[in-house]
Amino acid sequence: MPGQLLPLFPYFELYYQAMTARAIEWLGVKIRILDQSKLPREQILADLDNYQDVVLAIKEMKVRGAPAIGVAAAYGIALGASGIETANRDEFLAQLNQVVQAFAASRPTAVNLFQAIDRMKKAARGDDIAEIKNSLVTEAKRIHQEEVTATRQLSQLGAGLIKDGFSLLTHCNAGPLATASYGTALGVIKAAKDQGKKVSVLATETRPLLQGARLTTWELRQEGIPVTLITDSMAGYFMQQRKIDCVIVGADRIAANGDAANKIGTYTLAVLAKENKIPFYVAAPTSTIDLSLSSGDKIPIEERSPEEVTHIQGVPIAPEGIKAANPAFDVTPHSYITAIITEKGIIRKPYTEGLKGTSSRFL
Ligand code: MRU
Repeated sequence: MPGQLLPLFPYFELYYQAMTARAIEWLGVKIRILDQSKLPREQILADLDNYQDVVLAIKEMKVRGAPAIGVAAAYGIALGASGIETANRDEFLAQLNQVVQAFAASRPTAVNLFQAIDRMKKAARGDDIAEIKNSLVTEAKRIHQEEVTATRQLSQLGAGLIKDGFSLLTHCNAGPLATASYGTALGVIKAAKDQGKKVSVLATETRPLLQGARLTTWELRQEGIPVTLITDSMAGYFMQQRKIDCVIVGADRIAANGDAANKIGTYTLAVLAKENKIPFYVAAPTSTIDLSLSSGDKIPIEERSPEEVTHIQGVPIAPEGIKAANPAFDVTPHSYITAIITEKGIIRKPYTEGLKGTSSRFL
């Protein structure tokens, strides 16, 4: 385990930080990802040299988190385009469309994926195939760079909401791994720490795939931010005990009225936070805002395999053949959200006006 090795090898800290920073890397003829499905037990860098493997990596959540999915798809489309061999432009565009469709069918909830796809489609204009291939690479790099800038900015802005001594609760994972950049909810927490504030975090384990237990704790430890892991069902207890000053989470899609889809269990936390008069913040870049949907009930919710519930890391925990449900996200109504932190500003109710003002970079 890296954590056990850290005291022996101080340089491992830097090494693992570098690993995190490289959640997704474009290497010209392939994409290198840090396989998030294996963390923290194994740190595996996987090289993907065809677009089908990138699609699979998204489906299997080797790359996950809304902004990171968008970045991976953008690079994946550029990679897919580079592999198309025809010299006929119409045939090239037909094959490129198949690549795009494969990404569009990978995961339905995170709108960053569809924003990235739209941008890549727009970048595929021009007469010359080689030129289109180059434009697609340039656009994918731009999408990635914009996430880096946006998440840094929103983190700086959001840090202003965090007071010295705060204990924060976060759910799922909204750090560098999930964004291929600075992070959203965890970015805000990191920026608060960088401003000299003493902060600590309660991280929910986030069943069924344990992004909180596996990834959030791993990332926060690298940042030197004190973190305590709790099971999802302990959140209410700690709120009642006044052990939580605010809740901060990321989002996968925010509708025009401020309703926000995020990892399953987020809605429960928001209701508990309101009942206990604890601020509930959503941190997300504008690439996560979907102004085309008037409210959260129109957000498509991904239903994943029941096996993710009946098994933990491949080990069965329920009687064989038992029925299980697995919606991967839920929608928190805007009335439960204290503020939405974006790179363009901190938005408060009424959200419809405020979100329109951010006029998403991609719409
Ligand atoms: O299913 P996942 O792990 O992709 O879900 C991720 C989340 O719900 C995150 O909270 C969200 O994408 C925010 S990422 C900064």
